[in-house]
Amino acid sequence: MAENPNCPLCGRSLTPEPCGQNAQVTVTGSAMAGLQKSFFIKARDFIHAGEASIQVQNILKSLQLEPRFIRRVAVCSYEGEMNVVMHGADGTLSIDIGPDGLVLEVTDPGPGIANVEQAMQMGFSTASDELREMGFGAGMGLPNMKKNSDGIIVDSAPGKGARVRMTFHFREGSEGR
Ligand SMILES: Nc1ncnc2c1ncn2[C@@H]1O[C@H](COP(=O)(O)OP(=O)(O)OP(=O)(O)O)[C@@H](O)[C@H]1O
Ligand SMILES: [Mg+2]
Repeated sequence: MAENPNCPLCGRSLTPEPCGQNAQVTVTGSAMAGLQKSFFIKARDFIHAGEASIQVQNILKSLQLEPRFIRRVAVCSYEGEMNVVMHGADGTLSIDIGPDGLVLEVTDPGPGIANVEQAMQMGFSTASDELREMGFGAGMGLPNMKKNSDGIIVDSAPGKGARVRMTFHFREGSEGR
């Protein structure tokens, strides 16, 4: 039998072995359409907080993307996930990997952000004393997401929930590897 150099689901070259995570990856459309996967985030659940981001990291590692690319996405997914846990309502973290890069989206239908421009400033935080005692509330999450992504859109209004969409481009010719 001929060797299969590609992941049977995502179609990316993974010689000599197919990726170990493919059973968990939902593939929508053709291999060129990429991989799409969503994870549930439970608000105020500090026991499971961060697990969605770890799953994202594992998928990116299984695709053998560049460590630096994975690190940037991991920082952004963790900050986004923690914002839903701390400030939002039960929400979703999703990734969409295409031929040119990755889109990371974190959404929740919670109280939303009163002033997005202010929330993007380093050091701005509405975190409670309880959250600050846990080490959160430095007001660095959104600035970190801006710094580590190639593009960020924060779509939110009071009472309307929050949607943070970040894009990450593969370096030309490298497919993030
Ligand atoms: N999903 C969200 N729902 C409601 N408010 C949010 C959400 N995400 C961010 N915010 C608001 O934006 C502020 C700034 O967010 P940012 O992530 O930069 O800092 P932080 O979460 O307060 O602290 P850190 O991330 O450093 O622990 C938050 O304090 C909060 O008021
Ligand atoms: Mg934060």
